Parts: sequence; structure tokens; C-alpha cells
Amino acid sequence: MDVYGIIGNPVEHSLSPPMHQAAFRERELDAEFVTFEADPDRIEEAFRGAEALGIDGLTVTLPFKHDAFEFVEPDDRARRVGAVNTIDFTEDGPVGYNYDLSGTLRAFEHHDVDLEGADAVVVGAGGAARAIAFGFEEAGATVSIANRTVEKAHDLADDVPGASGHGLDELPDLMADADVVANATSVGLESDESVAPADAWHEDLTAFDAVYKPLETRFLKDAQAAGAQTIGGAWMLLFQGVEAFEMWTGEDAPVETMNEALREHL
Ligand code: ATR
Repeated sequence: MDVYGIIGNPVEHSLSPPMHQAAFRERELDAEFVTFEADPDRIEEAFRGAEALGIDGLTVTLPFKHDAFEFVEPDDRARRVGAVNTIDFTEDGPVGYNYDLSGTLRAFEHHDVDLEGADAVVVGAGGAARAIAFGFEEAGATVSIANRTVEKAHDLADDVPGASGHGLDELPDLMADADVVANATSVGLESDESVAPADAWHEDLTAFDAVYKPLETRFLKDAQAAGAQTIGGAWMLLFQGVEAFEMWTGEDAPVETMNEALREHL
């Protein structure tokens, strides 16, 4: 039997186990997907232990995406972002991927939103914002980063080719000229708040929210009310899992099955 898992802390409410288990069942694979809540003080031991036990692959979530990056040989995308959310334990050692980036791009493709030549605003400058900003840039968008702490916006913009950094006070002006706005802050997570002013939305925008609890965030509701297209964060979660499944198993992912399993547990 192949064993995969998610490592994080906290991790008990993760949606990855039901999503991957449903995919394994659908494809009739002899594989299990389990949850590992690792001690942050012993994370390197945890990764080495997983490797020594012959675990086949791990999804990595907060707060271990940077630790995972240090532990593996990262692929190009993971190297650019400086974070790893998926590990493949190969005969040549652990290899790391950043499927938060790939998952974001696949979520946009799934909704037929073309990022090539788009003006894209990323709100936030933490780990999620890094993956999204590098993804947008790779897809051919011009990226503006707006963050409450403006220095962090500038630091991220310095890393992403062609990007500019801004304070949140500039967000309405940035949105006026933009094609895409992504929320990569924690604002709206289990609350009815949005980082973007409601009156800044317009129908030429596409809204993407990395927050998926609730599914319909205030950010997305305001966008929709103004006639903008919306892409919820569950799509990013789904497609990062799809990418992981396909890399680990070499099979096409049962995307519909995984989507249903995910939405059943949200
Ligand atoms: P993650 O790795 O999940 O992206 P993070 O690194 O803690 O998490 O980043 C959280 C982001 O949400 C940051 O951009 C943070 O802004 P600051 O850099 O100014 O801290 C943003 N954020 C959190 N709470 C916010 C709030 N109430 N208003 C605006 N931005 C907020």
C-alpha cells in the first residue's frame, strides 16, 4: 500500500484527506492518505522520519512550507516562491513542488480567465501572496502588490519580475485599472469583512479569494454584486490537490470526484 499524508499544525480540519481518499478510491489505487500534526520544534526530524518510514508523498501546510523548502530539492516554481507545499519522496531523495502556484493558475484556466497581458493586483504579502504573485507573473500578468505593511509589499515586488509595491490606501486606484484582484490576506476568514472597499469593484474585474472559509467571502460577494467574475479559494485548494495526485500516481486525477469530496467537507 502507498501512504501519503498532510503535515501541518494545526491540521485536523484539513480537507486534503477526504479529497485524496476519494481520488484513490475512484482510481482503485491501493493507497491511504493520513494526517500528521508535527511538532514545530521537531519538523526536520518529522520530514526525515517520513522519508525513513517510506512514506510516498506529503502535502505540506502551515507553518511548514518554508521548512519543507529547506528539506527538499525544489523544482523551478518552488525555488522561485521559496516555499514547498508538496513533497515526493523519490529514490534520489525528496523533491518539492509549489502547487499553490500551479493550483492558482489551473483555477484561472478552469474559469477561462486569461492572465496573459492582464493587470493583476495581489492584496497581501505573506506566503499565499508570494505563490499567487509568482503565478500571475509566470502567466504573463503585470503584478501590483498592495499590503497593509507597505514595506513587505515592496520586498515582495522586488522579487517578482516587473511587479510594483503599494500600501492598502492605493487599492481603490489600482482596482480601477485592473483586470484581476486576488485576496491573499487572512481578512474574511470566518468573518464578514473584506480587504477591498465594496465600491471599488466593477464588472471588468475578476476576483480571486485565497480564503475558502466561508466559500462565499465578503470579498467575493461584493465583487459579484458589482458584476465582476469570481473564483473562490476552494478551486485553488482543489487544483493543488489535483496536481499532487497526478504527480504522485502518474494517473489523470478524477477532478469531479475530488471537487465533490472537497465541497462535502467544506
Ligand atoms: P500567509 O502565509 O497565509 O499568507 P501571513 O504570512 O501571516 O499568512 O500573511 C498574512 C497577510 O494578511 C499579510 O499580508 C498581512 O498583512 P501585514 O503584512 O500588514 O501583516 C495580511 N493581513 C492580516 N490581517 C490583516 C488586516 N486586518 N488588514 C489587512 N491585511 C491583513
